[in-house]
Amino acid sequence: MATEDQLREQIVLLGRSLYDRGLAHGSAGNISVRLADGWLMSPTSSCLGRLDPARLSRLDANGRLLAGDAPSKETFLHQAMYGQRADCGAVVHLHSVHAVAVSCLDGLDAANVFAPITAYAVMQVGRLALVPYYPPGDLALADAVRAVAARHHSVLLANHGPVVAGTSLDAAVNAIEELEQTARLTLLLHGHRTRPLTAAQVAELERRFPG
Ligand code: 13P
Repeated sequence: MATEDQLREQIVLLGRSLYDRGLAHGSAGNISVRLADGWLMSPTSSCLGRLDPARLSRLDANGRLLAGDAPSKETFLHQAMYGQRADCGAVVHLHSVHAVAVSCLDGLDAANVFAPITAYAVMQVGRLALVPYYPPGDLALADAVRAVAARHHSVLLANHGPVVAGTSLDAAVNAIEELEQTARLTLLLHGHRTRPLTAAQVAELERRFPG
């Protein structure tokens, strides 16, 4: 079990990695990790590429700020995920370009945004839920995520971006990177005759690699 200091360092390291590879920009995106008695959260308006481990928001089990800078305005959204998923150890939200582009498309399947184009999309992203547009930080956005979070660890906020829950921060980051990659592939394949995995192939992956 990692110590709080180690988790702080991990948030900084992975935030910088996401930023350095163009998956985060400006002050967009936020990261949280569950502790035994609360959460660590990236501060509001912070850049994921330049987080300071000592200034991360330290929240208690009720979400109240104990130490550090003021937390992300999406704290309630993260807590909606934790509240619905007992195995959730971390949540990552990004405004990564291709996932945001897909979130702006009309006519998406709100229960399963992506066609099952690759095995890793099925294994790590699973069935991506779409929730309607609300302004960032709006409590209605957290409510919309809460309504689907028990059935979906990956959620796409319409005209905004992806949110992914993982058992660990590594798992959440890997899954949101796979989501971004799947969004990119989906856009690249648009207009091309595509052969997605069959329902039987998807069921086999779900059996072998239960999420
Ligand atoms: P914060 O800066 O408050 O974390 O908000 C950034 C964001 O991504 C909003 O959706």
